[in-house]
Amino acid sequence: MKTKNEWIEKAKKNAALEAVKHVKDGFVIGLGSGSTAAYAIEAIGDRIKKGELRIYGVPTSYQAFTLAVKHKIPITTLEEHPTLDLTIDGADQIDGKLNLIKGMGGALAREKIVASASKKLIIVADESKKVRTLGEKNHPVPIEVLPFAVPFVIRKVKEIGGKPTLREGIKKVGPVITDNGNLIVDATFGVMHSPFEVECKLKHIPGIVETGLFIEMASVAYIGKSLNVEELKKNVRQQE
Ligand code: A5P
Repeated sequence: MKTKNEWIEKAKKNAALEAVKHVKDGFVIGLGSGSTAAYAIEAIGDRIKKGELRIYGVPTSYQAFTLAVKHKIPITTLEEHPTLDLTIDGADQIDGKLNLIKGMGGALAREKIVASASKKLIIVADESKKVRTLGEKNHPVPIEVLPFAVPFVIRKVKEIGGKPTLREGIKKVGPVITDNGNLIVDATFGVMHSPFEVECKLKHIPGIVETGLFIEMASVAYIGKSLNVEELKKNVRQQE
């Protein structure tokens, strides 16, 4: 019998396998970060090994880069390919409109850049990530901040109603340092009925490099469950 963790891993993998069906020969794709996106990178590598695909990948983090190398996915850059065909990435929370909170792995800035450079963003996740409203369960919004600006950003985030905490390392003393050499502030805002408004307020604070709020960016999400995979699509009116 499978343990709860084994079921969750199976759900993540199944979601990733659905998403990878969208990858076509000749594509340039964004390679997401985190444990669910890692299954997608592995599955893309398998399809390359079988000779089904010749593609290039743009990794969104050092983790995605090393996985791409391991699974023999040829790597390219935004320099060479400023427009990508597709990005497959994970998420920490997903609402019914496919708005997202991302960045618990600290890769949010590159993830957002790569997703924005892509014609399509597909999200893969297990069902624990699905919420009615972003910010439920007091989930924080990760924010990447220039080290110089951290005390100022913390003050300003409090002024707009957030509760900010500087993310501390595990197995490392002191703060988490991102792949870009910046720090992460995790800020809770409670339930966010207008995540777009929160995003706008945050993006007006100098020193904030990027936020983990991905508003109206994803067009499809595959949600892995114990027995099947649910497909969530942005409805046509939202896509217009
Ligand atoms: C990395 O910064 C994140 O945005 C991840 O994509 C997100 O945290 C989901 O990760 P898991 O798939 O490991 O839950």
